Amino acid sequence: MNSYRNYRWENIDLRDRAALGACFDRYRPDGVINLAAETHVDRSIFEPGVFVETNILGTFNLLEEFRRLNCDPKKSRFLQVSTDEVFGSTNGAVLFDENTPYRPNSPYAATKAAADHLVRAYHQTYALNTVITNSGNNFGPYQFLEKLIPLTIYRALLNQSIPLYGDGQNIRDWLYVEDHCRAIEKAYASGRPGATYNISGQNEITNIDLVKQICRIMDVILGGGPREKLISFVTDRPGHDRRYALDSSLAQKELDWRAEFPFDINLRRTVKWYIDHRSWMEKAADSRFQDYYRRQYSGEILPLKEFKP
Ligand code: DAU
Repeated sequence: MNSYRNYRWENIDLRDRAALGACFDRYRPDGVINLAAETHVDRSIFEPGVFVETNILGTFNLLEEFRRLNCDPKKSRFLQVSTDEVFGSTNGAVLFDENTPYRPNSPYAATKAAADHLVRAYHQTYALNTVITNSGNNFGPYQFLEKLIPLTIYRALLNQSIPLYGDGQNIRDWLYVEDHCRAIEKAYASGRPGATYNISGQNEITNIDLVKQICRIMDVILGGGPREKLISFVTDRPGHDRRYALDSSLAQKELDWRAEFPFDINLRRTVKWYIDHRSWMEKAADSRFQDYYRRQYSGEILPLKEFKP
């Protein structure tokens, strides 16, 4: 599967300091890109403890192990991949920029904020060569079913109700995964030491408009519908942020990065990917996911094999 000779896969729990330390000793990396996290807001509301352990202590362990290697700051880098959720919610015309104070509202966001603060402190205190990126909502292939876009597709394939929290008017700023990857690459290669960069796809849309758009795409690809009628308003997420909106002009200026891929095309491409990869979805909707779904939505999620095209 792996065609890169310099690539190794190690499956290590970031909470396991000894295992992490052994890995750092084995490879002595001159760079770390930390994408590892517990990511799902709803799960963090049920079980915040594991978010504290993984996102805060896990990042701390990475920072400590990296610091122990004593790399030359000119030739090394620690890149922390973070989120716009650390800024809390914006309601008016204000965009979050890199100087916006952190005001996290969910346990998930609070743990990401804490991790970012540790990264910042390691730059200030130990002169670690750090960069932090804060991005909006990612989308694209292989995203786990708990997130809004894959969940909508999964439920619509089964002709089951599509749960929308509250009034569906919350706004998210969507970023295609490949755009995000390019931003991370650029931030790693040429970000200013100690800097943070906002990474926005500049695709703000309400949840309801997004879900309707997905339904229409599915109607065109699969026929039938309109799947919009499956939308069901359910109890809102506690502490649900109304709107995230990032100003990423700094990334544009200093990293020469901007989102390239048009939202509509990528959304269609993503919906098509899920429709064409039903066996992947089937596997992802295992008994653990079904338990999660029951707990979160007080309802059943059918196996995808019930889907009749
Ligand atoms: O903004 C970046 C963040 O995007 C990342 O830091 C998080 O790790 C990632 O999970 C994502 O957070 P969100 O909570 O915004 O993503 P999610 O897909 O869960 O929800 C997107 C929006 O859709 C949000 O306003 C909640 C709403 N929603 C979500 C689900 C799962 C619904 O209305 N119904 C649902 O069933």
